[in-house]
Amino acid sequence: MRYFFALFAVSVAAVIALLGFRGSHFRKPPLYIFPDMEFQLKLRPQAPSGFFPNGRTSQLPVPGTIARAVPVQTASGPVFPFEDAPVNTGWVVGTTNFVEHNPLPITSALLKRGQQRYTINCAPCHGGLADGNGITRKIGAMAVVANLHDKRIVEMPDGELFYVITHGRNLMGPYGAQVSIEDRWAVVAYLRALQLARLGEPEDLPPQLRTLLK
Ligand code: HEC
Repeated sequence: MRYFFALFAVSVAAVIALLGFRGSHFRKPPLYIFPDMEFQLKLRPQAPSGFFPNGRTSQLPVPGTIARAVPVQTASGPVFPFEDAPVNTGWVVGTTNFVEHNPLPITSALLKRGQQRYTINCAPCHGGLADGNGITRKIGAMAVVANLHDKRIVEMPDGELFYVITHGRNLMGPYGAQVSIEDRWAVVAYLRALQLARLGEPEDLPPQLRTLLK
């Protein structure tokens, strides 16, 4: 065993003496034992190249190219997902203040979509009524799930709800990867409908529906 350690130390010293540490500078080209992916046949951006007629590696998109990203139709026109716009961030442009109102036009189709997405993505924890009594509470998987009828949450700007869905908050994980931008705003709209259903007054209903109230 003693010889093994001695031999090991000597061979480590020999390897370092011959090859040096990774990243150290040499006058001669270094010996590559593990080249990993350091040498690749590739074109670097903004470099000369004989391959294209204009002699450059970076090329402009072909005329007539259509962006693959699908724009979201907001109340003020289409917005692409890479734009710095409230519909993508939940923020007023150039600030970190949340936008007060949902940038999508509120239609019954949007609310239906929101209801469906809410039931899939949020109801397991927050419950169908948004009171925090989802299945995860019942089976004891989550001790504290926010009641979305809390005054603080009812008073949140729409942009903040969007932000919480996108990035999560405290114990709640982010849902931005699972729920598309449009669907997140649809969920926000539906959540507002759930809150209103609890806070509304009979006077909020159109007169012909008021008689149906028990
Ligand atoms: C896995 C369970 C789970 C799911 C799914 C879930 N939430 Fe939550 N949510 C929580 C928990 C737990 C909290 C309390 C977080 C805390 O304060 O620690 C919370 C808090 C919140 C809050 C309040 C944030 C605050 O500022 O206190 C909002 C709003 C919210 N959730 C909305 C949603 C919406 C909308 C969805 C569906 C897209 C959703 N949640 C899906 C568990 C979940």
